[in-house]
Amino acid sequence: MDIEFLTIDDLDLAGKTVLVRVDINTPVDPNTGGLLEINRIKECSVTLRSLEDSKVVVASHQGRVGRYDYVSMRLHAKVLSEVMDREVKFVDDVFGKAAREAIENLKVGEILLLENLRFTAEENFEFSPEDAAKTHIVRNLSKHLDACVLDAFPTAHRAHPSIVGFAEVLPTCAGRLVAKELKSLSRVVLTAKAPYTTVLGGAKISDRLEAIDALIENGKADNVLLTGLIAQVFLKAANKIKFPLQKDLEKYVPRARELLNRYSENFYMPDDLAINKNGERVEVRVEELKPDMQVYDIGEQTIRKYSKIIRSSGTVFMSGPPGFFEKVGFDKGTNELILALASSLGTTIISGGHLTAALERLGVKEWIDHISTAGGALVMFMAGKRLPLIEALKRASKRWREEKALQQSRA
Ligand code: 3PG
Repeated sequence: MDIEFLTIDDLDLAGKTVLVRVDINTPVDPNTGGLLEINRIKECSVTLRSLEDSKVVVASHQGRVGRYDYVSMRLHAKVLSEVMDREVKFVDDVFGKAAREAIENLKVGEILLLENLRFTAEENFEFSPEDAAKTHIVRNLSKHLDACVLDAFPTAHRAHPSIVGFAEVLPTCAGRLVAKELKSLSRVVLTAKAPYTTVLGGAKISDRLEAIDALIENGKADNVLLTGLIAQVFLKAANKIKFPLQKDLEKYVPRARELLNRYSENFYMPDDLAINKNGERVEVRVEELKPDMQVYDIGEQTIRKYSKIIRSSGTVFMSGPPGFFEKVGFDKGTNELILALASSLGTTIISGGHLTAALERLGVKEWIDHISTAGGALVMFMAGKRLPLIEALKRASKRWREEKALQQSRA
C-alpha cells in the first residue's frame, strides 16, 4: 500500500496561519452535557505541538444534527487548553465575521478553536472536491489561511467541505495522527494473513452495512462475527427475532437480508444474549427474546464461540463494542473478545474510541498490532474503499510536487 501524502515537515508553516482539521468528536453525557472521555482531544495535541511557530486555527465537528451529542465545542476548548497546558481561544462561530476576525487577530504560537463545524448546514453534506471548494465555509475561511493540515482520520470517509474542500485551494498536508495511522496500517496490511475475521458491533450501523460486501468481496472478511445492534438487525433478517425491532433498526433489515442471502457462509450471529433485568445481567437464548427485553450484551455461549474463531484467525479486525461495556456486568462480551484478540497469534486491529477505552482498562494495548481512534472510517479503509480524506491528501501532494517542479524548471 503506497499512499503519497505530504507531512507537516514538507511545508514551511512557520509564521503562517494554518487550519488544522481534527476529529475531537467526543461521547457526551446525555444528562450533564459533560465529555465522557477525552482521548481524541489528547491525541490531537501531538499535531498542535508541532505547530508552535504558526497561528493555529483548529476545527472539528461534534455529534450529529438532532442528537444529544450535537453540542458546542466550548468545553472542548477548555479541555484542550488543559491538555496543552496553554490558552486555547474559542469563538462561537465557524466562518462568519466573528470567526474571521478572531483568525486575523491570532499571533504566532496562539491556538483558536472554531465552533462545531456541523452547526453550518454545508458541513452535513458530501461534495465533490470541486464543489466543496465553492462552499461558503471554504471560500470565507481560506482567504484568511495559508495552509491546511488534515488530521481527522476518524472522519476520513466523509466528503465534507472541511475534509475535501480546503485541500483544493490551500497547500495541504497530513497531521501527525493521520501520518501515524497510514504508516502503521500500511505495515499491518502487509503482514495480514487469511483467514480474516471481522467483528462488528457498536451503535453506528449504516457505515458498517455499507462496507460489509466490499469487506467480503475483497477477501477481508472470511468470517463476520456480529455483535451489538447490528447483530439484532441480522437476527431479525434471518427470522430468528420475530417481533419488530425499534424503528431505527428495522430500516436496515432489508439490506441485512440481501447480504445474508448472498454471503450466508460468512456470517455468524449470536445464539444467546444478555439482557438488563433491573440492573442485573440475565442470559437468554435468542429464541426466548421478547420485545420488552433490553439487550445489553452478547451471551456467554456466543462469547465462547466467537473467541474460538478469533483465536484461530490469521487476521482479526474488531470495530465497535459488542455491548454496553460502560456498565459493569455488561462489559463481559467486550472484555472477553478483546482478550481473545490479545491472545491471538494473528494480526490484530482494533478500531473506535470505545474499544480503545476498553483496551486501556484491560491493560492489553501492547498486545494489539494496530489501534485506531477511527470507527466507520477504518471499516471503509479495511474494505478497500477510497477515503475522501486520503484522496484529498494525494491530490494536494501531487499538485505541490508539480508546482515545485515548475518552479525549479524556471529557476
Ligand atoms: C466518528 O466518531 O466515527 C467520526 O467522528 C465520524 O462521525 P460521523 O459518523 O457522525 O460522521
